[in-house]
Amino acid sequence: MPLFVVDENSCTRCGACVAACPARIIELRDGVPSPVEGAEKACIDCGHCVAICPPGALSHRSMTPEDCPPLRKEWLLDPERAEHFLRARRSIRAYTGKTVAREVLARLIEVASHAPTGHNSQTVSWRIVYATEDVRKLAGLVIDWMRHTIREAPELARGMNLDRVVAAWEKGIDRICRSAPHIIIAHSQNDRFAANSCPIALSYLELAAPSFGVGTCWGGYFTAAARSWPPLQQALGLPEGHICFGALMVGYPRYEYHRLPLRNRPRISWY
Ligand SMILES: Cc1cc2nc3c(=O)[nH]c(=O)nc-3n(C[C@H](O)[C@H](O)[C@H](O)COP(=O)(O)O)c2cc1C
Repeated sequence: MPLFVVDENSCTRCGACVAACPARIIELRDGVPSPVEGAEKACIDCGHCVAICPPGALSHRSMTPEDCPPLRKEWLLDPERAEHFLRARRSIRAYTGKTVAREVLARLIEVASHAPTGHNSQTVSWRIVYATEDVRKLAGLVIDWMRHTIREAPELARGMNLDRVVAAWEKGIDRICRSAPHIIIAHSQNDRFAANSCPIALSYLELAAPSFGVGTCWGGYFTAAARSWPPLQQALGLPEGHICFGALMVGYPRYEYHRLPLRNRPRISWY
């Protein structure tokens, strides 16, 4: 199959596909969008050419206009709603304990899969720790890492308040996973984009979750331990060469929020 085909009858020759293509592999030949030499290799399958074409005249080998849902402008947020939507997101640290259906978690990951990835590489993989007892077990391994760090690198441990987290654990308070029923981990080979792509995808998931009634919180301690503590790495069993680039606790929030808290004014400099 060719890289893309254009319905010459409906193509308006507007050139939008040429301008939008990140790899610059489309040119107008006799007014019709055509692949430049070497296009097959350079194409990153981002679908911009299909998505930007007003009449849906361009069909890419990886997606046709029929595959791609229409963009519903009436569903887009105006600036006030966008600000409110973003400011209403909260880190949730008190959960009901009720499990979230697997389908809901899978759907959230589907949504998060539309986050940008470097070069459209889409290399983010997901591990869902579904059983709550497994979340507890893994949190316990994070505590082992903290005890080890307190012993071996006390200054680092002090900087992260690890002694307080361990003391809480010993009193039955889970400050690692906040007693959330599930954890979702974004992992990948350590390619040149993964350290950005994984957290961005997790941010998408975090932003989408409240619309499903689901709350999340970043597992910073969990991620730090997963990056460096072999017993946790073994327990997680990520594929060979994969790194945990971020983790979210996931569950149903026990409480609702009623206000948007304040944040520092942004530090901006104009160059
Ligand atoms: C990289 C990162 C790591 C975090 N790690 C933790 C964590 O281990 N435990 C926790 O309770 N919150 C964690 N948080 C949540 C922050 O504390 C939270 O974002 C901040 O207090 C602001 O609150 P908000 O998210 O509700 O706006 C983390 C957030 C980020 C971005």
